[in-house]
Amino acid sequence: SASRPVALRGRVVTFRASPFVVAPSDSLLTEEDGLVLIVDGKISAVGPAAVLTDTLPPDTKVISYGDSLISAGFIDTHVHYPQLPVIASWGEQLLEWLERYVFPAEAAFADPEVAKDTAKRFMAELLRSGTTTAAVYCTVHARSVDAFLAESERVGTRMIAGKVLMDRNAPENLRDTVRQGYDDSAALIGRWHGKGRQLYAVTPRFAITSTPEQLEAAGELFRGHPGVFMQTHLAENTEEIETVRRLFPERSSYLDVYDHAGLVGPRSVFGHAVHIGETEFCRCHESDAALAHCPTSNLFLGSGAFRLFDALDPRRPVRTGLGTDVGAGTSLSHLRTMGEAYKVALMSGHRLHAAQAFWLATAGAAHSLHLDDMIGTVAPGYEADLCILDPRATPLLAWRTERCESVEELLFVLMTLGDERCVRATWANGRRVWDRDSATFA
Ligand code: GUN
Ligand code: ZN
Repeated sequence: SASRPVALRGRVVTFRASPFVVAPSDSLLTEEDGLVLIVDGKISAVGPAAVLTDTLPPDTKVISYGDSLISAGFIDTHVHYPQLPVIASWGEQLLEWLERYVFPAEAAFADPEVAKDTAKRFMAELLRSGTTTAAVYCTVHARSVDAFLAESERVGTRMIAGKVLMDRNAPENLRDTVRQGYDDSAALIGRWHGKGRQLYAVTPRFAITSTPEQLEAAGELFRGHPGVFMQTHLAENTEEIETVRRLFPERSSYLDVYDHAGLVGPRSVFGHAVHIGETEFCRCHESDAALAHCPTSNLFLGSGAFRLFDALDPRRPVRTGLGTDVGAGTSLSHLRTMGEAYKVALMSGHRLHAAQAFWLATAGAAHSLHLDDMIGTVAPGYEADLCILDPRATPLLAWRTERCESVEELLFVLMTLGDERCVRATWANGRRVWDRDSATFA
């Protein structure tokens, strides 16, 4: 049923171009006192309040957010919902961390009630962080996908999720088989892919935990279902890379393991890619595959520094988005993640501009996922997924942002000092799904 139109008033900040192609300050589109009109879940007009107010449909409800920013909802290109219970687990790098913390946590998802409870809590945390789309790893259990996507369907968010495929080098209670993994994934695609806003990702965990036969089966699923995604991990940690070399001696690189199985193409999303070279960047560019940059995770596990500006080299740009990678990542907040991305970029001598950081969390992430005609931008025709950012969320922010002389400076202060406390409200599919000041969810 058609709902009453809503118009949000505030400082609209979105993109008209990529800040890695045009000058960052020219990439931004801002409306200091703007209105975003939402009709039936879609944005139908954006412009100056002074102009648009007189043209609104007669029954429009106007919600004023004052000097808060109206941005596209954040898009998290890589995150694990079953790992929320083990976020902030001490003392290990990747492979030991998986064994010691992650596999036991994921084993608990054999119980569908654990999956449902965790999915609800995870969704609440996403909304609290202003995230309206995420590419989500579930567990090896098919029901873990049902739990998460059912919650997303209830809330109205556009989510991408998949059952983890894992048929070796994992505890017995977390392994599937080539056949079971294929059949479960095919059934989940039938159940969920394109159901409302929900999308499916074929999800082989990484090369270490899948046999070559399972990777082949994943390739068949990916090729056989147009529009589905494929997500996995790539070249995160040096010990991991050495293990992949030993397991696949006949392949020329880690990426080639996936390429050989038909897993590299549009809608492929590779998490991390910290330790890849020019050949792999070129292959991702030409194949339209995407990389998910997960700075808080790479720092937390001591994995290394992703070369963002090499990935985005305008001579052969690779589609790239930001990922939080919780539970190796230390926050679901994209503001925090942007702040860490700035520091990681500096480690290789590059200055990440605030507009570039926000683009990687919104329009750029949407582009990386081939969803940039639907989400990631505040413009007519786009789905009404929005996040409202309060520049005065804390006393220090209020005091510091008072001194800002440009929107770029304001964005930089927000990404450096801000976190989920700045998210005043989150809108998904034209509905308010989080309101900070009344502490209410959808
Ligand atoms: N590589 C394989 N599985 C995982 C995971 O769950 N998290 C991270 N960060 N890396 C991985
Ligand atoms: Zn991950």
